[in-house]
Amino acid sequence: MEMISVKNYDELSKKACELLVNQVKNSDSSVLGLATGSTPEGLYQQLINEYRNGHVSFGHVTTFNLDEYAGVAADDPNSYRYYMNEKFFNHIDLPDEQAYLPPGDAVDLEKECHDYETLIADSGYVDLQVLGLGLNGHIGFNEPGTPFDSRTHVVELDESTREANARFFPSIDDVPKKALTMGIGTIMESRQVVLLVSGSKKADAVKQLVHGKVTEDFPASILQKHQNVTLITDEAALSKL
Ligand code: F6R
Repeated sequence: MEMISVKNYDELSKKACELLVNQVKNSDSSVLGLATGSTPEGLYQQLINEYRNGHVSFGHVTTFNLDEYAGVAADDPNSYRYYMNEKFFNHIDLPDEQAYLPPGDAVDLEKECHDYETLIADSGYVDLQVLGLGLNGHIGFNEPGTPFDSRTHVVELDESTREANARFFPSIDDVPKKALTMGIGTIMESRQVVLLVSGSKKADAVKQLVHGKVTEDFPASILQKHQNVTLITDEAALSKL
C-alpha cells in the first residue's frame, strides 16, 4: 500500500484529483469507480474545476458508483444518484448513459445486483476505484463480517453506519435500513484503488487499516493484499499511527 500523507483536506482532495485526471488522460476509455459520503466531495469539486479549466474531459469515461440505498428513488435528495448528480455529474461532460449506480428503487434488487456485476465486467472492469473508509472499516456498504469474496449484493446496514449517515437525514428513523453495494470481491478486482481518509475521527480506523491483521471483521483490511492501493490521508487521520 502506497501512503501519501498531506497536510489537510484541501490537499487531500487536490492529490486525489491529480491521480484521477492522470487516469482519465492516459486512457481513451477509463472506467472509474466512485464513492459518496463527505470525503470525496472536495475531490469532485477539484475535478469540476479541472473540467471547467479545460484540463480534462469525461466524454469517454464510464463510472460505477459503489452503492445506493434500497427503496430510495433516483430523484430523492437522499439517494446517492441525487448526490452524484448534484456534486459531480451535472457539472461535467460525462454522458448520462455512462454513469451507473445500483438502482436502489428497482423491484428485483437481487437481479439488479447480478446485472450490475455484468455491466462492470462488460465495461472491462474498474480502472481506478475511489474509496472512503467507514469508522468500523466498511468499504462501500460492506459491513464487518462481509465475506471477502462477496459480489454486488443487498445489505442490512449496521446501526453505527446508520448513525454516522443520519446527519444527511431529518432523523435516524429516516435512514434506510438496507442498501445495494459492490462486494469486496468486486472492489478487489479494480486495477487501482485510491482510498481517501480525512480527520481525527478516522485515526483509529487508519491505524487498524495499516497495522491491523487482515480480517473480515474490518473489511478495509483486505486492501493490504491489493497490488495497487494509494492511501491518501491528512495529518489528523494519521494522528494515531
Ligand atoms: C459511500 C461509501 C462509504 C463511505 C464511508 C465513509 O459511497 O462507499 O463506504 O465511503 O462511509 O464516509 P464519509 O466519507 O462520509 O466519512
